[in-house]
Amino acid sequence: MDKIVVEGGRQLNGEVRISGAKNAALPILAASLLTDGTNTYRNVPRLHDIASIRELLAYLGARVETDEDHVIRIKANGLCQTEAPYDLVRKMRASILVLGPLLARLGKARVSLPGGCAIGARPINLHLKGLARMGASIELTHGYVEATADRLKGDDFYLDVPTVTGTENLMMAAVLARGTTILRNVAREPEIVALADALNRMGARISGAGSSVLTIHGVDALTPADISIIPDRIEAGTFMVASALTGGDVTVLNCEPDHMGAMLNKLRLTGARITVKGRSVRVQGPEKITSVDIKTLPYPGFPTDMQAQFMVLMSVARGLSIISETIFENRFIHVSELRRLGADITVSGNAAMIKGVDHLSGAPVMATDLRASASLILAGLVAEGQTVINRVYHLDRGYEAIEDKFARLGAAVQRVR
Ligand code: EPZ
Repeated sequence: MDKIVVEGGRQLNGEVRISGAKNAALPILAASLLTDGTNTYRNVPRLHDIASIRELLAYLGARVETDEDHVIRIKANGLCQTEAPYDLVRKMRASILVLGPLLARLGKARVSLPGGCAIGARPINLHLKGLARMGASIELTHGYVEATADRLKGDDFYLDVPTVTGTENLMMAAVLARGTTILRNVAREPEIVALADALNRMGARISGAGSSVLTIHGVDALTPADISIIPDRIEAGTFMVASALTGGDVTVLNCEPDHMGAMLNKLRLTGARITVKGRSVRVQGPEKITSVDIKTLPYPGFPTDMQAQFMVLMSVARGLSIISETIFENRFIHVSELRRLGADITVSGNAAMIKGVDHLSGAPVMATDLRASASLILAGLVAEGQTVINRVYHLDRGYEAIEDKFARLGAAVQRVR
């Protein structure tokens, strides 16, 4: 089991290049199932979750080739399987993203129910309700979703919650459906826009991506495309917080500032100096960090995936801050780990109250979910002494070579095998 060891007290300076976005790549790779040509994907991050979906696509019969420079090619003309088995899906719940494409392309799919995870129950009822609205017959048996449909048909309906992967699954199902589908109250994340752009490059007819209403005119077939993955706004945000936290001067390269409005706004309010230039953002940390309140919301609100990272910043800020988590029911697991490092945090319901302390002190801690594990590295950067983070496989699911990127910025971070 790898560990990450951090010696606190270093200021971060320099430049860091952001990798492709995991949560854009996953649905876009799944969309390769919708056509039988060879799709080319560029700027694909090298992550465990990407390896997991490649393994699943190969299991379904797609031919998956990758080369050294973050390029993946997928040819899905020999699909021989319509089942996504439990032992693949349990490794990564986002495997549910093959449900919509399999149903649209082959008329049937048997996908293991993804189950919950550390941060919440993670239901998929809205994915299934939407597919049923489009004419699929859905059965839940022995831990699997069994879905069949001769040909899905367009419909006009609302999502109860703007679910990100739910929107993605239904968008991919609708592109080959008969007639027009209008999806209302959909997610508006940049990853949704990226998927719609990719599908339109493949010949789909989707409009409204980024707004809360998607209009999708079904087509008979899609053709392969050459698609570059957008940068990861959460990885970018993680390094921006690291600079503010250590009073450093870090420029994040190859990011999309337009995707990070809520984050940049809150960072400015903490006193950090932010300079946006094209696709780079420079963050100069303040002498003293000012406490700000955060409420996580669907995009374009403050992203839940940045909540843990901001909590670390607030734990050494001057004053009191309240962080409300409105997306997931159990996304404060990192609080008990931060308390071990000396943070003063009280949780009541979906709100955490953070009283800034002068300093944190290093200790062994445990990573639990992907983004929370990144926040433990951040805490280690400013904790006095050594912090050892266990169970770093969580990190490897969503951050490419994170310890190298931090080390290049001057942090004393290393991985111990
Ligand atoms: C996506 O998860 C992301 N994952 C998550 O990132 C991210 O935190 C989340 O969106 C919110 O932004 C991927 O894109 C692969 P949701 P997703 O469906 O789609 C409820 C990471 O670290 N809901 O938008 O699973 C649900 O319970 C991950 O990369 C239903 O009730 O999130 C939650 O409260 C963590 N029924 C809320 O909606 C449904 O059918 C938002 O969930 C679906 C969701």
